[in-house]
Amino acid sequence: MPSYTLKINGQSMTVDVDADTPLLWVLRDHLNLTGTKYGCGIAQCGACTVHVEDVAMRSCSLPVSAVGDAPVTTIEGLSANGDHPVQEAWKEHDVPQCGYCQAGQIMSAVAFLNNSPNPTDADIDAGMQGNLCRCGTYNRIKSAIKTAAGK
Ligand code: FES
Ligand code: FES
Repeated sequence: MPSYTLKINGQSMTVDVDADTPLLWVLRDHLNLTGTKYGCGIAQCGACTVHVEDVAMRSCSLPVSAVGDAPVTTIEGLSANGDHPVQEAWKEHDVPQCGYCQAGQIMSAVAFLNNSPNPTDADIDAGMQGNLCRCGTYNRIKSAIKTAAGK
């Protein structure tokens, strides 16, 4: 079985897995980074979103062999104490309901704001449309992104 050394949350981590193993299962099953969630497994819901080279990617559909040397950030690595400005805005607006989609929402929101620091409502709708929330927290997500914008 091949061996892969990945840069995850600033640390070097080695796993022995098949080349086509999705990054999501490497994170959850091999590295115990369970903040990243499995929703659909077919790149449709965004629950599994992580950053690869600061770009939001769906880890359920990214083979570990495609990651290479690119730094990966998961929700666990976003901030030391859950105090990233987007996380603080999430708390201020009490965004989560069941919480299942929220790690993916936050990772997408951070990547979105890095590229669109002063978004309009339409920008937010377009930028976040790939992240589904069965609990319908979309309005609070939008409010939190507006709060976090520019911070
Ligand atoms: S679990 Fe990856 S997009 Fe749904
Ligand atoms: S908070 Fe429940 S799925 Fe989004």
